[in-house]
Amino acid sequence: MLKWLFQRDTRKISPDGSYRHGNTQLIELRHVEKVYAGAAGQFRALKDIHVQINTGEFVAIVGKSGSGKSTLMNMVTGVDRPTSGEVFVGDTAVHTLNEDQMARWRGRTIGVVYQFFQLMPSLTVVENVMLPMDFCHTYPAHTFYRRSMEILEQVDLADQAHKFPSAISGGQQQRVAIARALVNAPAIIMADEPTGNLDSRTADAVFQLFERLVIRGKTLLLVTHDPDLARRAYRTITITDGAIVADQARVRDDPPPITADADGSASVAGQAVVTTEAYHAD
Ligand SMILES: Nc1ncnc2c1ncn2[C@@H]1O[C@H](COP(=O)(O)OP(=O)(O)OP(=O)(O)O)[C@@H](O)[C@H]1O
Ligand SMILES: [Mg+2]
Repeated sequence: MLKWLFQRDTRKISPDGSYRHGNTQLIELRHVEKVYAGAAGQFRALKDIHVQINTGEFVAIVGKSGSGKSTLMNMVTGVDRPTSGEVFVGDTAVHTLNEDQMARWRGRTIGVVYQFFQLMPSLTVVENVMLPMDFCHTYPAHTFYRRSMEILEQVDLADQAHKFPSAISGGQQQRVAIARALVNAPAIIMADEPTGNLDSRTADAVFQLFERLVIRGKTLLLVTHDPDLARRAYRTITITDGAIVADQARVRDDPPPITADADGSASVAGQAVVTTEAYHAD
């Protein structure tokens, strides 16, 4: 259990932030602290966060307003930096990247989806989806349009491609934002309250889209206030006052079906819960 603590040697991080960690965790936060300095003094928004997430996981991050969920997400995306501690994503030591490296690394590695969609109002739907490819130079320019249309097809929006965001519904706007997040083929999708601004039926449709992405191999981190949606994730991390207070994995009911776990903690497929210890056992 503790052996990974000794696997890292931070001296091996190269100037471009690359790092061969030699283990299977896609995302790893080690002793991450975030302290904000304000008029009222210092505020610890994240306290000694220690977490590992593997490829293909579907993780819901829950907690009360102000508990630190977005701050935690921002540590992984590199939108914000830890005050101390380390953030590794794949072979990149995220906390060591400079702004320029960070933006390009993020654009290629993580698709980010926000509550308020954050589409460019002066660009059409398809132009919004094309933007990340232009920024990251991930594909040749002559393929931008075709690729964007293919992704819009996947989220069932090809027929809306030439409208402006203001002319489509909230659920459609969020699906455009998801298409934009997917267009550089990132391994990781991170969504901060992506359904918070949608009615429950539309939220369900957007959530189903996320579920399909996980089945297709993406790793998904999702902040949500909605307990019904959180229950559909394979793992739930609960944050209270900047600290992880619970980390529970739900046994997946897709193949192979699970009827009982070695330690007897799993019972009904898709319903059972295993503890953090059991989950992380090597
Ligand atoms: N830039 C900042 N400066 C100072 N304090 C901040 C800053 N950003 C966040 N905080 C504080 O850190 C704490 C965690 O904020 P965070 O946005 O991560 O919460 P959250 O769990 O995402 O909440 P919500 O569910 O409302 O989105 C809050 O108390 C917030 O006021
Ligand atoms: Mg938040």
